[in-house]
Amino acid sequence: EMLGHQVYTEKISQENLSDFCNSNGIKILIVRSATKVTAPIIEQFETVQLIIRAGVGIDNINQDAAKSKNITVCNTPKSSSNAVAELVFAHVLNLARKISYVDNGLKNNGDFKILKNASSDCFELKGKKIGIVGFGRIGQSVAQIALGFGMEVIAHDPLRKTIVLPITIAQQNINVEIPSVSFNAIITQSDIITFHIPFNANGSPLINELIFKQFKPNVILVNTARGGIIDETLLIKALQEQQILGACLDTFINEPLLNTELLKEPMVSLSPHTGGSTKEAQIAIGQEIVDIVANFK
Ligand code: 3PG
Repeated sequence: EMLGHQVYTEKISQENLSDFCNSNGIKILIVRSATKVTAPIIEQFETVQLIIRAGVGIDNINQDAAKSKNITVCNTPKSSSNAVAELVFAHVLNLARKISYVDNGLKNNGDFKILKNASSDCFELKGKKIGIVGFGRIGQSVAQIALGFGMEVIAHDPLRKTIVLPITIAQQNINVEIPSVSFNAIITQSDIITFHIPFNANGSPLINELIFKQFKPNVILVNTARGGIIDETLLIKALQEQQILGACLDTFINEPLLNTELLKEPMVSLSPHTGGSTKEAQIAIGQEIVDIVANFK
């Protein structure tokens, strides 16, 4: 508003989106991930010039359709990296120490000693090898935290051949060299694998049957990127057959609908796509949006 815009904050259903934008002369449309700005919707836009994704992944916006109508598409890639990275470790620690399980047990009057004994196969992150697929801002934030835990960090990113990570620790800046390894090395060597890559809507899942066969038997897979990066049916099968130790999932192929088979698995830690949902990230996203709007001619 201070930039001279009239701001509408109503919740608009997808069916009414183009009508709403046209009848109110909307120039800038801001969405999160739940709104799918599809080609048919974009084709009907009469006044929209800029679509801002308040977040990182822009797979919910049909970029080809926007381009053909000369509509600019922007995202806010800087703001939520740390929020996502912290969620990765919230999930991994949840499985490593069975927090949800014992917490639930205690709150439901479970036996203290039995619950304590159930934790006898819990494990530490220190010394474990974490494989990071995609070493952009989020992958780098994950690496910084992993180093703090004393983990061995390896990363794969086809765009980065040598990886030097500038980390800040106790107000000191140091450069840490992270081994840049092949995708195959990540898959076969890691105890924990976390994905920080965009979703390729036209591609098949990155983690397919062939890949599932190559994991270490005690691997934990973490997907806070997009449902569909890991084949969900194969993942459920691998969990049921105990081919892998566990899975931490913030994103799902058919979200907001979840596969009920997934809910039955004990070594699964789930969150409802909350990677970017911290006060800090949302405030920073707001600021990034203001900067985009202020610079948009
Ligand atoms: C993102 O791409 O920024 C995250 O997936 C968060 O999506 P959200 O804005 O719907 O929370």
